[in-house]
Amino acid sequence: MREPFAITIDGPAASGKTSTAYQVAEALGFHHVDSGALYRAATAAALRANPAGNWNEPAVLVAARIVEMEARKASFCPLLAGEDAEGEIRGEAVTAKVSAIAKMSGVRDWVNAQVRDLADLHDVVVDGRDIGTVVLPNARVKVFLLAEARERARRRLLQRLGREGTDSELDEEAAKLAQRDALDAVQTVPAPDAIMLDTTDMSQAEQVRQIIDLARAAGASE
Ligand code: CDP
Repeated sequence: MREPFAITIDGPAASGKTSTAYQVAEALGFHHVDSGALYRAATAAALRANPAGNWNEPAVLVAARIVEMEARKASFCPLLAGEDAEGEIRGEAVTAKVSAIAKMSGVRDWVNAQVRDLADLHDVVVDGRDIGTVVLPNARVKVFLLAEARERARRRLLQRLGREGTDSELDEEAAKLAQRDALDAVQTVPAPDAIMLDTTDMSQAEQVRQIIDLARAAGASE
């Protein structure tokens, strides 16, 4: 049996990793694994267990036992206590706390083990921050997505509100992203062999196409 093929897509908050990774996986017949969704699911589980939010690592790991990955057509998605919780894990409360939870080394080990288990068995496109460096250093294709802060804020607001943000909304969102970038800076470093893609002026379709081309050139086939 041939070795499973892994593509990693890393980059800062709202650089378009998750939607791009999903579309690349769908086009190639791979599975998308969103490592950020696992950090978010652990955070949501910790918030359910203790809404006051003064957690320690063992308590988070116990709370995270309600998280399991469900295989869907082109992705693996985290369930909370057996149920879809997409709205909850993408919500403001989780976003505000997730970087603190992601600093816990036991939580990082827990996410990394799940990602590696899936990559051992399936062709995957994994998005995150440290996937090409720490989690899957032998991945066949590594991409690091960049985009200017204001453009990232614009995209995130469009996704959340379904319309363009006003100037003050853009300022507020850009400030929140900058804060999260600072908290996540340690683990958000491109692998030496990653291809850097600045998507500030690129359409979604174009960035998906470029990554598919890189994957095909590296031997991926549907
Ligand atoms: O999509 P967005 O950029 O908002 O973030 P995400 O990919 O959903 O990740 C949420 C949070 O999880 C990040 O802000 C990081 O704190 C953490 N994370 C991480 O530390 N390492 C990863 N490989 C992925 C996410």
